[in-house]
Amino acid sequence: MKTILVTGSSSGFGREVSVMLAKRGWQVFASMRDTAKQDRLRELADRVGAPQSALEVVPLDVASEASRAEAARHVLDATGGRLTAVLHNAGYTTTGFFEDLPTEVYRHVLETNLVGVMDLTQRVLPALRADGSARIGVVSSNAVNVPHPMFSVYAATKWALEGWCEALAIEVRPFGVDVVVFQPGNHDTGFGGATVPVLPPSSAYRGFAERALPKLTGLGRYSRGSYKASLRICDVLDRPRPPLRTRLGADDVVASWLAKFTPYSLRRRMVERLTGLGG
Ligand SMILES: NC(=O)c1ccc[n+]([C@@H]2O[C@H](COP(=O)([O-])OP(=O)(O)OC[C@H]3O[C@@H](n4cnc5c(N)ncnc54)[C@H](OP(=O)(O)O)[C@@H]3O)[C@@H](O)[C@H]2O)c1
Repeated sequence: MKTILVTGSSSGFGREVSVMLAKRGWQVFASMRDTAKQDRLRELADRVGAPQSALEVVPLDVASEASRAEAARHVLDATGGRLTAVLHNAGYTTTGFFEDLPTEVYRHVLETNLVGVMDLTQRVLPALRADGSARIGVVSSNAVNVPHPMFSVYAATKWALEGWCEALAIEVRPFGVDVVVFQPGNHDTGFGGATVPVLPPSSAYRGFAERALPKLTGLGRYSRGSYKASLRICDVLDRPRPPLRTRLGADDVVASWLAKFTPYSLRRRMVERLTGLGG
């Protein structure tokens, strides 16, 4: 039986992928920091006919080292030290101009989106190597293709993840472990919903923020459902030799094309126009 540890299974892609894989016969360790939210996972499982017994909810706050250690220990015990996949999906952004961000605010984003991913990977890698045909899945973002002002720390974590993945992929391949990066575009999950922009009254950026925030919120209308993207994640995780990168949606395909074939100056002007942040 294929086994997977998914982070951030309480919502969005994490919840859908956990349920879809359970329906396909995987044993899923669906982790979340607030296990009270498992009701929503279980409801979705019932709705689509995924067996509840294939979904074990594991408490995991990826920003906490103690929690990561405990969750990894539990999963390794439960699987006998042999795991088919880990999907690093949990992540969030802080919104605000970098100069305004308190250190503890951006450190928490780094711990959640980057350090937590690396640490958890180290903890489960022996079990992935033991499987011999395993994957490390990482949910990145199209923030690596298009500059994201007001999301600079979030963008930093996703760029760092992708650089780490490209190198790690080479290290672990001899053990039959593939690294797979998923780049979502703009999807209407819970992403960003609870984010309150950091904007101190004394901010030098207040005028810019007042111009940009309504425009950034307006971009939400271009988002689309997450079902197809989640299905794609499952298909790729299920493949014998998955590719390093999978772009989830037309907007990400276009953004990655722009990143490859156009100069930064052009993408910067586009973003300045879209956000009203041009100097
Ligand atoms: N949706 C998009 O448009 C989009 C675009 C690009 C990239 N992404 C990426 O997609 C991934 C999944 O996000 P989503 O779109 O599915 O949004 P979502 O519905 O907000 O899901 C994010 C998940 O991450 C969890 N999480 C956040 N901090 C955590 C922590 N410290 N410990 C454990 N879990 C934590 C959340 O748990 P709680 O319920 O407890 O908050 C939630 O389950 C993220 O990595 C995000 O960067 C999304």
